Amino acid sequence: MEIANICILGAGNLGSRIGLQAALSGFQVTVYDVNQKSLSGSLVTMNKLIKYLIKSQEITEKKGLEAIQRITFTPDPLVAVENADLISESVTEDLDIKKSVWKQFGHIAPAKTIFTTNTSYLLPSMLAEDSGRPKQFCAFHFHDVFHSKVVDIMPHPNTDPELIAVLEDLGRKLNQIPILVKKENSGYIFNTLLVSLIDAAGRLATGEVAEIEAIDKSWMINFNMPIGPFGILDNVGIDTAWHITSVKRNAASRAFADLLKTYIDQGKLGEKSGEGFYKYPNPSYKNSDFLK
Ligand SMILES: NC(=O)c1ccc[n+]([C@@H]2O[C@H](COP(=O)([O-])OP(=O)(O)OC[C@H]3O[C@@H](n4cnc5c(N)ncnc54)[C@H](O)[C@@H]3O)[C@@H](O)[C@H]2O)c1
Repeated sequence: MEIANICILGAGNLGSRIGLQAALSGFQVTVYDVNQKSLSGSLVTMNKLIKYLIKSQEITEKKGLEAIQRITFTPDPLVAVENADLISESVTEDLDIKKSVWKQFGHIAPAKTIFTTNTSYLLPSMLAEDSGRPKQFCAFHFHDVFHSKVVDIMPHPNTDPELIAVLEDLGRKLNQIPILVKKENSGYIFNTLLVSLIDAAGRLATGEVAEIEAIDKSWMINFNMPIGPFGILDNVGIDTAWHITSVKRNAASRAFADLLKTYIDQGKLGEKSGEGFYKYPNPSYKNSDFLK
């Protein structure tokens, strides 16, 4: 099927990025949110992204202007979905909120509309029935759209298999590399791999096998990477990492959560607070002599 009109549900960080990329790719876009502040903030976010893309010579000023003209921001669900060929849902990562949004839009969307969710950790099968059209429902998960240009396509057991090719094609048109996740898996592929790396780094640190900088150095040298696991944690936010780690019940995760908590208690949340495992804006792992 031909996709021309894309409806974005949730005008936050990711909804704004996906909406802008869709408009830059030539689609007509409507962006819906219950919160008027999010809708006005979305335009601000998009304009900042456009400036960045012009500066890095990825788009021209004209292309940025044309993209913004293809986008309609609305707090009215009926206007948002009126002519949607596809919905990309990026509302708050909360099961109850997402369920109610899918019930609402399952009722009002045209029969042709494909339903996709950008959830990070929930499974599409947790939402598909709420939409009333499980066959048309699939996870279509972006990373940050403009740096990590990857979109995960993860069907649930009742997704129409023909939808996969449609979403792969759409992913490429949105300047992303589509990655098929054949079976439902919380965290898709990348986050599953990343959590294993971070858990192992935590075990090495709490077991006093090595200092934090040594753990990062080992990873960076061996894989020629610009950042190690603790640098990544600073980037993600130590508070966010603690939320994920503290709910795990095994002894290694509890010890790691305790270590993370000592940083949080000192206000060291990572890059966003100016200090975490490293000090910002010039963390030592970015120095040219870090790997000497
Ligand atoms: N932030 C990331 O790096 C990232 C990456 C990939 C996927 N995601 C996923 O994208 C989704 C959105 O994340 P985000 O970081 O953009 O969050 P965000 O908090 O920036 O935005 C969420 C938006 O949803 C809106 N919202 C809440 N309830 C709503 C409702 N009933 N109807 C319409 N809008 C509603 C909020 O007003 C807010 O504007 C989540 O599922 C998240 O897991 C986030």
